[in-house]
Amino acid sequence: MNTKNTFNNAIEISKTICKLKLSKGDTVVDCTMGNGNDTAFLCSLVGDKGKVYAFDIQEAAIINTRKKLQELNFLERTEIILDDHQFVDKYIQGYVKLVIFNLGYLPRGDHGITTTKETTIVAVQKCLEILEPNGIILLVTYTGHENGKLEKEALDRYTSKLSQKDYNVVNICLTNQINNPAELICVERVCPK
Ligand SMILES: C[S@@+](CC[C@H](N)C(=O)[O-])C[C@H]1O[C@@H](n2cnc3c(N)ncnc32)[C@H](O)[C@@H]1O
Repeated sequence: MNTKNTFNNAIEISKTICKLKLSKGDTVVDCTMGNGNDTAFLCSLVGDKGKVYAFDIQEAAIINTRKKLQELNFLERTEIILDDHQFVDKYIQGYVKLVIFNLGYLPRGDHGITTTKETTIVAVQKCLEILEPNGIILLVTYTGHENGKLEKEALDRYTSKLSQKDYNVVNICLTNQINNPAELICVERVCPK
């Protein structure tokens, strides 16, 4: 019997979608590298022929992620970028299969350094332009703090207006959980028939 739940929280659901979407050799982006957990997970899915671009604005995130990837022998398949994800187009020219944003602040880090609605929307717009047909953007949002709530509202306004001819937009929220659980927005580029 399979005893593993599918819907425990938004991060686990986003990882299940990554597994569903990705194959060895794919190119993907982690727009909020943090401590490198998602970056390492993506590295394991794309394999040694794949590529993971990872962004963060904090030196501490870069140091923690580099250490983690080195231990796992994943450094060669990663490009670690110390820059704001709103400049993603400066670093990536080709198409990518998946982009993940785990928004908010670095756990156990400075809670004052957090993603903002303005720069996140710019980054999402730019990532939509480099998304392969059938590719996906995953945004894990946190509404438990004021800034995160504003960011989620701005993302909902923006993503809900995307053309249904070009994108499938899905929101996942755990409606019976207390304390503002994280939510997940998925934007899939529709594959032409
Ligand atoms: C919730 S953490 C990410 C957790 C991470 N994915 C992990 O697996 O550990 C959010 C991260 O976004 C970063 N961040 C905030 N604003 C950013 C921006 N404009 N561009 C890139 N990273 C940003 C923060 O520095 C923080 O490390």
